[in-house]
This record gives sequence, C-alpha cells and structure tokens, in this order.
Amino acid sequence: MCGIFGIVVDKEQSLGSILTDAGRRLSYRGYDSVGCATLRADGVIDLRKDVGKVDAVAARHRFDEMRGTRGIVQLRWATFGAPSPVNAQPHLDSDGDLVGAHNGNIVNHVELRAQFIAEGLSVRSTNDGESCVHAVERYVARGENIVDAIRRAYRDLEGDYAFVIGRVGEEKLYAIKKGSGLVAGMGEGFTCVSSDLPSILPLTRRIVRVNDGEIIALDANRIELRRVDDGSVIAREPEIVTASMDAAIKGGYPHFMLKEIHEQPRLAGELLHLLEAAPHATKMIARMKRARHLYLVGCGTSYHACMLGAIYLARLAGRAAIPILAPQFIAQYGGALSADDVGVFVSQSGETKDVLNAIQVAQARGMGVQGLVNVLGSSLMHASECYLPLGCGYEISVPATKTFMNQALTFLFLALKMGNHSTDVLARLPDLLEQTIATTEPQVALLESALVTADDLYCLGYGLTYPIALEGALKLKEVTYTHCEGMLSTEFKHGPLSAVGEGYPVLFVAGPEDTPLLVSGINETTCRGARSIALGEEDARLRANAHDLIVLPNSGALINPLLATIPLQLLAYRLSVARGYDPDFPRNLSKTLTVD
Ligand code: G6P
Repeated sequence: MCGIFGIVVDKEQSLGSILTDAGRRLSYRGYDSVGCATLRADGVIDLRKDVGKVDAVAARHRFDEMRGTRGIVQLRWATFGAPSPVNAQPHLDSDGDLVGAHNGNIVNHVELRAQFIAEGLSVRSTNDGESCVHAVERYVARGENIVDAIRRAYRDLEGDYAFVIGRVGEEKLYAIKKGSGLVAGMGEGFTCVSSDLPSILPLTRRIVRVNDGEIIALDANRIELRRVDDGSVIAREPEIVTASMDAAIKGGYPHFMLKEIHEQPRLAGELLHLLEAAPHATKMIARMKRARHLYLVGCGTSYHACMLGAIYLARLAGRAAIPILAPQFIAQYGGALSADDVGVFVSQSGETKDVLNAIQVAQARGMGVQGLVNVLGSSLMHASECYLPLGCGYEISVPATKTFMNQALTFLFLALKMGNHSTDVLARLPDLLEQTIATTEPQVALLESALVTADDLYCLGYGLTYPIALEGALKLKEVTYTHCEGMLSTEFKHGPLSAVGEGYPVLFVAGPEDTPLLVSGINETTCRGARSIALGEEDARLRANAHDLIVLPNSGALINPLLATIPLQLLAYRLSVARGYDPDFPRNLSKTLTVD
C-alpha cells in the first residue's frame, strides 16, 4: 500500500532528513520503491527515486543533500507497473515544472496514458501515479489555474486515490483525496500532508482531516481546504491529536487484527475496481479455461480460499478445479502433471516455502503457473506467467483476515467472468461487509463469556460454507491456542459426535441453500447436550433449533460465505484478547513460513 508525505516550509532548508524520516514512518504500510522530490527556491526540482528500502535508497541517492521550500516523499507498493526506478514516484510532468505522487489506484490509467500520448505529453513510466501529474498538466497547459486544473483532473481520474503535487514558481503544495487516506498537519513555520498520521505526529499534533472530494492547498503558515465540485472554501479548524504513535499506526484500533478486519469492506471495493481494470484477469481466465487439469494450490488460509474458489468455478463457470495443499500437490499429483495443466498458486506473502516447492515441480513439468499474491515483487509474483494482486496492502497481523477476503473475492470474480455472468452482484459487497461488521460485532460479544473457557470446539459447514468453517477454525486455533476443528457438517456424525457432552460448543456455518441439512446436524448435537451456535441469515428453523444464532445480512448463497467469515474472525479476535493473548503475534507462528 503506497504512502505519500509532503511538506512546505517558510524558508529554503535541507529537507532530505525530514523526508527520509517521514518515509521510514510510512514504511509499515509495505512498499518496494522510494522517491523524494524537493522544489528549490531557484526553480529547480530535485528528484531522486529507486527500488529498495528507505534507508538504502536514501543513502544511495544522497537524500541528505536535498534542499528546498517544499518536498514530497513517496513509498510505492507496485500495482500498475513493475517495481523499477522509472515507475517509482514522484513523477514529473512533460516539461518538468510539476511534480507529484499518489497513493491508491487510478483504474482508468491505461486509457488516460493513451490520451496523454495522443495529446503530445511525455509519458515516461507505466505507473498509474504518473497519470495524476499529466491529468493536472493537461489543464494547466490549457490556461487553468492549478486549483481548477486539479479539480478537473479529479473528474478524469477514476479509482480510489490521494495525490500531492507541487509546481515550480509557486509557494504551495496541493493534495486531493478520493477514497484513500489523507491528513494534514500544521506546525511552526511549516505545514505537511500525509497518507496517515504516523508520519505527521512526530512533527506536529495540530491535525486537519481531509475528506473525499476535497482539495487542500498548503503554504508554510496556512492550510486552505476547498470542495472539488464547486471550488468553494471549507472552514475547518485543526484538532489536537493526543493518540500515541502506536495507536496511530493501528488506526485507533487496539490490535492490527481488528484494524485489518475493519479494512475489509474498503479493500474489497478497491479490489473490485482493480480487477475490472486488470488486463491480467482476462488473460488468466483464458489460460484457466484451456487447462486440461486446473489446480488451486496454497497453504493455511490461502488453501481455504482455494477450496472456496473451486466451488465458485464449478458452480458459475462449469470448470472443475482441484484445490490442494501445496506439499500434497507434489506428493499426490507430482507424477501426473503436464504442460497442458495450469496451477493457480495462492499466497499472501508469495514466499511460503511449501508453495514455492510446488511451483518448482510444476515448472519442471512445464505446467502453467499463475499467481494470486498480495506482496508484489515476491517470489510467487516473479514465478508467475500471469498474476493478480490482492490489493490489501501490508497485512501485519499474523492471522490472515483481509487477504483471505480478497483471495476469495478474486476467485468469485474470476468464476463469474469465466461463466460469462455479470459481476454486478459484487457491487453491493463492500456495503454488505460493512453491515456484517456492524451487526455481528455485538452478537459475537454476547458469546464471549460462554466460549472463553472452552478448550475444545468444532466449526462445521457444508458446501459453500465448508471452506469458511475450516478458515474459522484455523483463526480460532491460531489466536486462542485452543483445539478447534473445522469439518464438513455431515462428517461430524461419523466420529466426533462421540466427544459431545453437556455444554460442548459446536459452531454451524449455515449457507442459505443448506439450512435444512445444517438444522439436522444442529439437532444431532443439541439432543446430546451440545451448545450449538449457528451463523446464518435470519431463519426460523435456525432460531428454533440452535442455542444461539448470529444473524448475517441477507445476501444469497454466493456472497454469504464471504460475510460468514467476519463473525468468525471477530470471535477469534475477542476470545484471544479475553484470554490475555496478543492476537497479532500468536506464539509459535510466523507470518511468512520460508522453511519446509
Ligand atoms: C503461515 C501463516 C498463515 C498463512 C500461511 C500461508 O502459516 O501463519 O496465516 O495462512 O502461512 O501463507 P501465505 O503467505 O502463503 O498465504
């Protein structure tokens, strides 16, 4: 997830160390390249950028020498355009008197690039951030003042983003917000703007919040906010932020896990924009369609997304796919792979050794390798002929939450497209996810006291909710250190039922199509004394038969599994905290397992 920071000071000075420090504080968001630009009083823009970590790039390009009255630093997490020096940000306009950088995604940047080239502008990179600069340049060139040029650019640039831009010969920086984070700070003799608070708080605690659809003009002693739609000035007083640095990085949440759970609605929306615009999606679908055998390969949470993906592909596109754990892929199918087969390898980190081993075997057999990956620049990305980014930014908490959501959503999107269905059904998803968080959080809280002492529980699902039951059980195991087994609900009677006694907790994830079957399962356990907890849409049968019902918004069979994931994540989180554990860093576990 990219980060931007800009500063305006009242007299020319060395800005390199301020910008490098701000870059370091944005780095927890994850990035692959770094760039700095300063605008000097003599009209020169000093621009230095490269691939690598903040300190390494700053040392290599001597950021400490950079002086100016205004400066911008950007950390880039590649989405459009490979990580490379030319794609690193900030970017210059054609004649080098505008410089800017963005955070987010400009989903129509391919069309915009073609327009800019046709208009004779110099497009140097394949990165969408450059489109922000040219989108302003084209209106400045037509004689608009810079604020009006930015307002017009806002209308041309589709997607969720924020950007900051400066022009030679002026005293200001300008920034705009549309969907991505943006806050400003006011200090003694300077003002600044950033993607988030952590890079501002060490400089000042006088903060001005910026909303979507607003432009902010910063000069050294003043901040002016305007509405994009009519250009009118907005009066907003700065507030004093007292939050600690740690709290600021966690966005006000007590743990990253909770923050990342709450990020899911927004990130799902952003991913949908990204997928609609990604040429790789079409390429990947064509390759998956042609495959003799199609394997979906991953470990842990990513494997559960593969399981759900296989159901979506069969159901929506009539395409059989084999979901398989990466080491077992080698053991079970290693001898049967051919160049006609395709594997979609799924990994948040893109570095899981089990997955990389499986890719090696696939490549040795000449098989097609495709990737779904969150960390761009990772080994999986490089090994893939074609990959799709999950667009979640950095996932800090060890238990995967937001990346599972976007993996599952990517599979649903691919299956709809492959089956020539409209993807309109997905447009409601961000709102439904938001609603699910709001309505299930209090319901989950009510279960906390009943479950906090349970050392053994089951989580059952069927059909589309079977992978969700496995994922819910994995979350519970990871962060509560208790035994929680995920299982197909119909298998429970073939063994585990013998463990059931008075008060034994069993969770049932009930998809709307499979409610009658789940109700049978519920009764098999409750008549033996179990405490059955159902998760599903409001349903008289579930209400009458289960002890507790966590009600999910009505969404239909395809979206329901995505919504059902949320109360299970929240339950795991709450039980972990109630037991006194740190859900972000569970004992014995690692976010990226680079060992066999
Ligand atoms: C580790 C993590 C899990 C994750 C699994 C696969 O075990 O603790 O949370 O699901 O690796 O990781 P990947 O990065 O390949 O998705």
